[in-house]
Amino acid sequence: MFRSVTKQQDPMTAVQVTINDTLVSVVPGTTVWAAMALAGETATRVSPVNQQVRSAYCAMGVCFECMVEINGMPNRQACLTEVVDGMQINRQVITEATIAELQTELKVEPQPQDVTGNLSELTATGSSLAADVTENIKTGE
Ligand code: FES
Repeated sequence: MFRSVTKQQDPMTAVQVTINDTLVSVVPGTTVWAAMALAGETATRVSPVNQQVRSAYCAMGVCFECMVEINGMPNRQACLTEVVDGMQINRQVITEATIAELQTELKVEPQPQDVTGNLSELTATGSSLAADVTENIKTGE
């Protein structure tokens, strides 16, 4: 589907990367996204929300649809990152299990999922502000 517009690669300068467990030879300076597309691996990540397979969209660093795992580090933008010899590139699959694993690895405390307390506080603050504004309108301030 995708093909390179550069002339044939020079095997002496080619960069070897692994994309989803397949060794691929690419021209130095190629972005990770381009290397993936040329290798036929266009799926960059799986959405943690609905498990949809996603791929690069803007190819210029804006949409963040191209997040991949590079050398074990998640959330790397494939469209902005140039290949480096020996790079390990994998489709990113973030699940609750991988989030827990990363939190353990990075020694981050799990965040509470229950935000009803914060919501009640915000609602009370919002109601108070609305009452103040209403009072100011009545008094002409
Ligand atoms: S494709 Fe949009 S940020 Fe990479």
